[in-house]
Amino acid sequence: MSHPHRPAAVMFAVVALFLVTETTAADVPNFSTDIAPMLATKCSKCHGATRQKNDLRLDSAEAVQKGGKNGPIFVAGKPDQSPMWVRATKPPGDADRMPAEGQMLTKKQTDLLKAWIAAGAKFD
Ligand code: HEC
Repeated sequence: MSHPHRPAAVMFAVVALFLVTETTAADVPNFSTDIAPMLATKCSKCHGATRQKNDLRLDSAEAVQKGGKNGPIFVAGKPDQSPMWVRATKPPGDADRMPAEGQMLTKKQTDLLKAWIAAGAKFD
């Protein structure tokens, strides 16, 4: 009687927590099904079996983890410190922009890459 609003508040909190958990789990991109295919289409021409610009290959989980001539290409949990995402989101005409030539990643693809790195860059 002294706390007439509490049951509703608890219910709200439970529902909100459930929604947050569900959304996070469903939104974390998967390396093999979401990330690897986009790297294969848009990056492996220059960072794959035939060419390895700056000693970087992007055609396997091991290679992505290894990085290039200048070291790691991502920092787990920190997209804005991850060259692979930072360079893929540079504006047109920027010398650092990746891919250096050819079709850029779409906004949807750079968002996937960002979400994957933000979630810890797991190779699943
Ligand atoms: C048309 C060729 C080409 C494509 C396609 C390409 N790159 Fe590159 N990439 C280069 C060249 C050339 C360099 C070296 C010069 C430089 O650092 O700008 C490089 C360097 C890099 C580096 C720095 C590696 C290091 O250690 O110095 C990263 C990170 C990178 N590329 C990411 C990507 C990603 C991610 C994609 C796909 C979205 C991609 N590249 C597609 C040509 C390409």
